[in-house]
Amino acid sequence: MAKKRILSGMRPTGKLHLGNYVGALENWIKLQDEYQNYYLVADYHVLTTDLSTEEIYSNTIEMVTDWLAAGLDPEKSPMFRQSQIKEHTELFLIFSMLITKARLERNPTLKEQVRDLNIENLVYGHLGYPVLQAADILLYKGEVVPVGEDQLPHIEITREIARKFNTQYALDNPVFPEPEGMITNFARLPGLDGQRMSKSVGNTILLADEPDVVIQKLRKAVTDPQKLRKNDPGRPEVCLVFTYHKKFNSGDIPEIDTNCRSGALGCVDCKMRCASKINEMLAPILEKRKFYANDVNKVKEILNDGESKAKVVAKQTMDEVHQKMKIG
Ligand code: TRP
Repeated sequence: MAKKRILSGMRPTGKLHLGNYVGALENWIKLQDEYQNYYLVADYHVLTTDLSTEEIYSNTIEMVTDWLAAGLDPEKSPMFRQSQIKEHTELFLIFSMLITKARLERNPTLKEQVRDLNIENLVYGHLGYPVLQAADILLYKGEVVPVGEDQLPHIEITREIARKFNTQYALDNPVFPEPEGMITNFARLPGLDGQRMSKSVGNTILLADEPDVVIQKLRKAVTDPQKLRKNDPGRPEVCLVFTYHKKFNSGDIPEIDTNCRSGALGCVDCKMRCASKINEMLAPILEKRKFYANDVNKVKEILNDGESKAKVVAKQTMDEVHQKMKIG
């Protein structure tokens, strides 16, 4: 049986953090053999919240370097920039006729951004963010979309647009699948302060952080506020560092739970154990990252190659779309 198709992507905002890794990238890498994969750099999507374009390209290179370092394999998973495949913008325009403004205004991810970023006057393109995302996914007939939890509302909108196109123009033989979102147990790994991990807040651990940096950052991580002294009994269920242990040190969970509650394990020791597990996991990524950082041309070649592959699929889909719509 043919492998199902994955399309997923991220906005290029620079180096990736652990939240990006455990929320999505780690999953992408695991799924590479089981699926046919396409991974997109959503460089036009960046403009919805930041019009300056100075850093988009360098951020793209940093992000793709992290993808490669973490183990995304360009042979199995072509990687490409949305901006270089013109069909994205064309399909975006067609799709923008198939969804109402009221529906887009109900998007909870948008509402959250408007609140968090204090946006007073929403631009048209930001309202249409999920429509461009639908074009990203459906251009490659993506069936499975592994993403962080905040993206699920956008996948729902993508399904609605696919359905609308199919019923309007392709009843006999649907062009688009209705893609499924796929999230991990750690779709939202909190930052060092317990809030959402985000670069703008400065509460991240980066995939590119050296071991001593990880140790320093962990030192400052929040724990149970009632555990003031080393031997006070703690409550793992409210402790951020315990959440990190669950992800990065699951084998030691029963013992840490017991010794935290009894007061035998102090927060500093607990944090250092956590830092060393994270560093163990990051070591091979860091090494591979250095290899690619020293050979940026290699990263550029990988992108160009991915773009050639993506163009073939994009053209096929648009030929079908034009034919169904009797355009051209
Ligand atoms: N909106 C996604 C994010 O912010 C990025 C994205 C753009 C995407 N196009 C996509 C994700 C298509 C999955 C599929 O993370």
